[in-house]
Formats: sequence, structure tokens, C-alpha cells
Amino acid sequence: LGSTQGQGIHIVITAGPTREPLDPVRYLSNHSSGKMGFALAEAAVASGARVTLIAGPVNLPTPAGVTRLDVESAVQMLDTAESLMDTCDIFIGCAAVADYRAESPAEHKIKKQDHQPELTLRLIKNPDIIATLAARPDSPVMVGFAAETRNVVAYAQDKLKRKGLDMIVANDVSAEQMQQGLGFGGDRNAATLIWRQGEDILTQDEPAQDKIQLASKVISQALKCLEL
Ligand code: C5P
Repeated sequence: LGSTQGQGIHIVITAGPTREPLDPVRYLSNHSSGKMGFALAEAAVASGARVTLIAGPVNLPTPAGVTRLDVESAVQMLDTAESLMDTCDIFIGCAAVADYRAESPAEHKIKKQDHQPELTLRLIKNPDIIATLAARPDSPVMVGFAAETRNVVAYAQDKLKRKGLDMIVANDVSAEQMQQGLGFGGDRNAATLIWRQGEDILTQDEPAQDKIQLASKVISQALKCLEL
């Protein structure tokens, strides 16, 4: 990836899980490591772009040259992303956003009820960050991720259309793939890049490779989408 292709371009990337509070000491979350999003940030800097990384709670060092904004919940992630939209040219949603959050997080620690074997938590849907941003009249080039266990490309194409995206990176997270160390938590990934070109939808298969290599290809294609 040339070091000037992204010059003058602002790329905003979300990475990692979100954390949805249940009370002051507990939360709902998931196992996203944030590695793919951080690799994208690194590759985006290498392209010469200005890069803002909106990170959920992860244990990763900030790549050199990246402006990192730490958030916890999906609502905070959306608010932070919206605040960057006036200068954003390419938005890449790599975060594993929690689909639901507690309707009303408890103000104080929820106490164990010795005589009640059940506890009911009422959850409400989180906003879909990438779909919300894609629906804006001033939306940048929008790149999403889709993790599927079957019909990977077909489901991802459907997601591309449904969320109003320009490009989607489809990952196979079936058990067979995970056994080979691909996908969540690992350092390697295989994927299919899917993007719109006029009325057409084009695809490019990327075999298993280091996440940083795959990230370069995603950034490169996203920059091409910006020119389309
Ligand atoms: O619908 P699904 O969660 O499979 O879609 C994944 C894509 O949508 C990813 O790009 C993810 O970052 C984004 N997403 C989002 N906000 C949500 C859920 C998913 O931006 N609430």
C-alpha cells in the first residue's frame, strides 16, 4: 500500500467490543479482541491518511500516529462517531457492538436475593451505529464487517444493502475456520471483500493471512471506493 494514497483523507474506525452497564459494577459485553480494528488503524496510517480510532475496552497499544478515543457503551460509540462525521471521508465499523443494553441500569449494585431463584433483566435494542451513520445525507464511504457461520457471502451482500453500506468484509466464523485459528482473537483472518461499483456488486476472496495484511487490502479497496 503506497504511503500517499490516503493523503488528505480522514478515516474513522470503530474497534473492540462495547460494554453495557447493568449496575455500577457489572456489564454485558462480548469477546471481541479489537485486533482487526487496530490492524486497520495501522494500515490506514501507512496509507498516509489521518486516522481516528474509536475503541471499546480492549488491551491493545495504540498504533503510532493514530488518534484514539476510548468509549464503553454503544451509545457513547455512536455519539463519538457522529461528532467526527463532518470531517470523515471513510468510516469503517469493525466494532462488535452489543445488540442490546439494559433498559435502566441500576443506580446501586444489584443485591443477590436469597429467596428468589430468578432475576429478570429487561434489555432494549442498541442503535445500529453503522446503519445510523449510513443514513445521513452527508455520509462518508461506509465499510462494515459481517461475521457469518454459513452462506457467508450471500448474507453479507444482504447486510451491505440493508445497512446502506458501500463495502463489507465478510468473515467465516464457523467452527471449522475457528479451529484453524482464523477470526476472533487470532492474528490471522480470511475474508471476502464485497463492494458496490455502480449497479454491480463485486467480490474479492482473500485467503488466510495476517490481520495486518488483510487490513491493508481493506484500506486499499476503501480508498478505491472513495474515488468511484
Ligand atoms: O448486523 P451485524 O451486527 O452482523 O453487522 C455487523 C456490522 O454492523 C459491523 O460492521 C458492526 O460494526 C456494525 N454494527 C453497528 N452497530 C450495531 C451492530 C453492528 O455499527 N449495533
